[in-house]
Amino acid sequence: AAIEKGGYDHFMLKEIFEQPQTIFDSLRGRLDAKNGTLTIGGIREHAEMLSKAKRIIIVACGTSWHAGLVAEYMIEELCRIPVEVEYASEFRYRNPVVGPGDVIIAVSQSGETADTLVAIESAKEKGAIILGVCNVVGSSIARLSDAGAYTHAGPEIGVASTKAFTAQLAVLCLIGLKVAIVKGSITKQRFQHLLDELDNIPEKVATVLKLNGRIKEIAAKYKDARDFLYLGRGYNFPVALEGALKLKEISYIHAEGYPAAEMKHGPIALVDENLPVVFVATHDSYYEKVVSNIQEIRARKGKVIAVITEGDQVIPGMADDIIEVPEADELVAPMLSVIPMQLLAYHIGVLKGFDVDKPRNLAKSVTVE
Ligand code: G6P
Repeated sequence: AAIEKGGYDHFMLKEIFEQPQTIFDSLRGRLDAKNGTLTIGGIREHAEMLSKAKRIIIVACGTSWHAGLVAEYMIEELCRIPVEVEYASEFRYRNPVVGPGDVIIAVSQSGETADTLVAIESAKEKGAIILGVCNVVGSSIARLSDAGAYTHAGPEIGVASTKAFTAQLAVLCLIGLKVAIVKGSITKQRFQHLLDELDNIPEKVATVLKLNGRIKEIAAKYKDARDFLYLGRGYNFPVALEGALKLKEISYIHAEGYPAAEMKHGPIALVDENLPVVFVATHDSYYEKVVSNIQEIRARKGKVIAVITEGDQVIPGMADDIIEVPEADELVAPMLSVIPMQLLAYHIGVLKGFDVDKPRNLAKSVTVE
């Protein structure tokens, strides 16, 4: 087992550290930034149809559902096609309005999650086209899909999903870009810029991973908190949800992820000097708004841990702890800002003495309803 973990203490840590490579693998053979081209073999024949879709419904569970939420923001912006993101378990049981002309994207690491599988089975029977974004090659969801793209993150052993998530983001971004260029809803310049941004992500992830030691210190400082709040806006809102999920899964600390602006409709009542609040506050089009949300937390004495863009001059003066990640376009920034979320949860779980690779009550793949 020690050999399988490649010198790391846990599979989870190994998989977090694999991400520069796994993201690269998910882009390999598809993205050619130098020549400004993008090829996704598995959807080649469907790109035209996708560009004409009236709406896209993303169906998933857990961490994959969070990747779907990021994709909603990406695809709506790039393709100007309405996107809905559904929990597979809710979608399948409520007799959803779905049929010919609808495109469903099923996102699943394992490709075996029962709720996701049954949800797409019934949507397919009703005439929807199914695209699969799966990690496990030949899995049930991949086989049932009409088309799709594998994430190529390699086997994920840690129950808490990490590298599968960033690979999903990479592939969903590629799909959005492909559809946008076919549809003509993106300028050549923006397309090329995003290809370059994607191309640079693996290297930037490697830079974020160098903060591991610093994040471990932050983990030690806050590990005894009873609750955590995670906040973000826009592309970083799903990252906040994912940060809270990671913490719950492996450290058993209650954590809530929320859109930063929505906190004043409830969670702000929880804020006092004992509550650590993790802000995903990288420099994007929501930045100014997030800064005022940080002020609202500080005014109530909450402890602020902020993930920010390198060189930010404002938030360091307001936060208790900062984690700086490289600058990136907001569309691809979640692949960077989620890394500190994964490491923070990992270190808190380990410091509390829990088996982070096999958290209690959780399964790697949920093949029952
Ligand atoms: C389980 C796993 C999660 C995963 C979710 C969806 O709950 O513990 O890590 O995100 O299932 O799994 P899938 O394989 O469909 O992505």
